[in-house]
This record gives sequence, structure tokens and C-alpha cells, in this order.
Amino acid sequence: ARIIVLISGTGSTLAALIRAAQAPDSAFEIVGVLADGDAPGLAHARQAAIPTAVVPLRDHPTRADWDRALAAAIAELSGRALPDLVVLAGFMKLVGPAVLSAHPGRIINTHPALLPSFPGAHGVRDALAHGVKITGATVIEVDAGIDTGRILAQRAVEVHEGDTEETLHERIKVVEREMLVDVVSSLAAAPAPQPA
Ligand code: GRF
Repeated sequence: ARIIVLISGTGSTLAALIRAAQAPDSAFEIVGVLADGDAPGLAHARQAAIPTAVVPLRDHPTRADWDRALAAAIAELSGRALPDLVVLAGFMKLVGPAVLSAHPGRIINTHPALLPSFPGAHGVRDALAHGVKITGATVIEVDAGIDTGRILAQRAVEVHEGDTEETLHERIKVVEREMLVDVVSSLAAAPAPQPA
């Protein structure tokens, strides 16, 4: 299966997907990595000789224009065939109708909390502030909402005494990247998920 990965940050999740894709028995290959800015994580793609593209929101007058540019960049990276899967791995923007309609039922996202609890850009901070003892990570199928799509997988992570947002997030990320690799590998091996 041919996948495109979208990132915004350090790309440790992407790095785990790249390592998994390079395994001899891997069921998927990463054909492109796309960022919404000069994300440090792009270095992982370049080191693995994976084509990259950057589509900054600020380069476009409206969000709809940016969304269309994003869809075009995904198509460009994927070449003549559509990707089998588009994976949002630490991508901090909402994809819009142009991207969603081009890849129905084939966009997944990873979130560092147990959805539907603590959706949005600060799931780790919100869980910690709420005082939960157990949080975790979720892989969902992306729809038009904010972290509202069908839940594909979840794993629990304990909150430790004295945890900060950073220490908790790092502990979650270890579990999160393993779960995402498992989900991508199983989707890649199975027939394409049916459009919703
Ligand atoms: C992940 O926990 C992701 O769910 C969240 O931010 C983190 C991305 O980390 N949105 P990285 O950029 O893959 O290191």
C-alpha cells in the first residue's frame, strides 16, 4: 500500500512509520510527506529519500484555497495513482472538504488522548488539568469534525504523580506511535477501507 503522511512538528511519529515501512516484510511504503510549514520532522523524510512538500496556510488567501493546495500537493506526491491511505501524524490543522472528498474513508489521524475525551489541539494538557488517572491515544478515521471520526484503535497510558504535559505526552507518544504503526500495517495488508 502507498501512503502519504502529513506532519506539523518534530515528526517522531513519522519516524516510527518510516522505520516500519523499511522493514523487509512491510505492507506499506511512504510515497510522500507533506507539512503545513517548515516542520523539523521533514528531516526524517529527506534522510529516507522520501519526496516532501510544504503547503503553508499563510501562502493562501483563504482556508479553502489552502485546502485545495493541500489536495493538489497530496495528488502531486502520490503520482498517477491515489494513495491508499493518508495518515495525519502530528498534523495540527483541520483538513477541509477538498482533501476529505479526494480520499473518502482513507484518511486517519492519531490523537494523544482517549477520544471522545479531550479532543482538539491540547488533549494532553486538558487531560492532565482534569486530573484523570488514565489517558492514552486514539487512532480515528478523519471526518469533517475535530477528532470526531470513527475510532479505529485506542491504548491506555497511566498518568504519573508529578507528570508535566511534556513527560505525559512523551509517555503517550511511545504508545501512540506503536499503535499507529499497527493500524497502518493492518490497513495496508487488508483491502482498502470502504469509503464511509
Ligand atoms: C503526537 O502526539 C500527535 O498525536 C500530536 O502531536 C504529537 C506529534 O508528535 N498531535 P511528533 O511531531 O510526531 O513528534
